[in-house]
Order: sequence, then structure tokens, then C-alpha cells
Amino acid sequence: MSAQAQLAEAISPTELRRAFSVFPTGVVAVCALIEGKPVGFAVNSFNSVSLDPPLVSICVGNTSSTWPMLAKADRLGLTVLGASHSELCRKLASRTADRFEGAAWTAKDNGAILIDDGALWLECRQSAAFPAGDHEMIMLEVHEAKLFATIDPLVFHQSQFRELMGET
Ligand SMILES: Cc1cc2nc3c(=O)[nH]c(=O)nc-3n(C[C@H](O)[C@H](O)[C@H](O)COP(=O)(O)O)c2cc1C
Repeated sequence: MSAQAQLAEAISPTELRRAFSVFPTGVVAVCALIEGKPVGFAVNSFNSVSLDPPLVSICVGNTSSTWPMLAKADRLGLTVLGASHSELCRKLASRTADRFEGAAWTAKDNGAILIDDGALWLECRQSAAFPAGDHEMIMLEVHEAKLFATIDPLVFHQSQFRELMGET
């Protein structure tokens, strides 16, 4: 048995999902106008990567039907969702709901879509993609950044949406 197969047998995907879920993350909406329509999904695999050049990464499931559409866009809007966005986040992950129903968003001339009341807006361009198991790691160059410092981010922890508590 290969080392990879042994690893996969040692910890089941269900156990792993539960284990990883204790690590709190923000949630980012990745969105763009594609053929005049808003397209997007929610990810919590967002990471800051480099300051010079400015790079961030996301990991996209190999079975995602949304990413192949977004991958064609010249620019992608990344919004760090705000504390008021739990319902919208569920929609942005749904396979059946109208993902943008009731959402307030802003489309830039370059096609990036940014969600109103988010904590951070980034306008990005895809720069590289690396295979990563059942996901693909996508590297994105950051071309514009707009911070909304008074808006708290939505927090995802143990499969639930939470809000930040006070300082310790
Ligand atoms: C909180 C949260 C975080 C998610 N993070 C990711 C992620 O990092 N990468 C990913 O590919 N999908 C992630 N998803 C799932 C996608 O939002 C979406 O449900 C999935 O891509 C299936 O839809 P699609 O086939 O339209 O792409 C996440 C969903 C939720 C609710």
C-alpha cells in the first residue's frame, strides 16, 4: 500500500473535516461578472501569502462547478464577509439557491464583484494554480485593496458561524 493510501486510511475525511473545523477562519466570497451575470462562491481556505508582490491563495475543490467559470474572469472580487453575512454565506455555498438573492453587491468595470458590508475588498488576478489532493491551490495577485476597519468579519468555527468576542 502506498504511503498516501496509508495516510488516507489512517484518518477518514469525515474525521479530518471535524478536526480541521476547530481552527477558526474568516469566510471569503469569490465573485465576478461572467457573461453579464454574477457568479461566485464562499471559501474559508483563503490565506495571505506575500506582501511583495502582494499575493493571496484559496483552495478550490476539484469537483467545484463554479470555479471553472470564475477561472476565466480577468479579475476576481474577494470579499472578507462581515458579521452580518451568515445567511448570504449559506446562499453562496448552496447548489440550489439563487446565490445573490437579496445581496447588495458592487460590480467593478473590470468584472470583479464585491459584497457590500464586507470587512475587506480585494481585486485579484489569478497568477498560478497548483494541484493539491482533492483541491487545487490558486495563487492570486492583489491589484486593489479596500479595508472597512469598523466592520467585524464573519467567523466560521466547528461548522458554525460566529462573531468575534472582545479582546483578551
Ligand atoms: C464556510 C464555507 C467555506 C467553504 N470553503 C470552501 C473552500 O475553501 N473551497 C471550496 O472549494 N469550497 C468551499 N466551500 C464550498 C463552496 O462554497 C460551494 O458550496 C462548493 O464549491 C460547491 O458549489 P459549486 O459546485 O457551485 O462550486 C465552502 C462552503 C462554506 C459554507
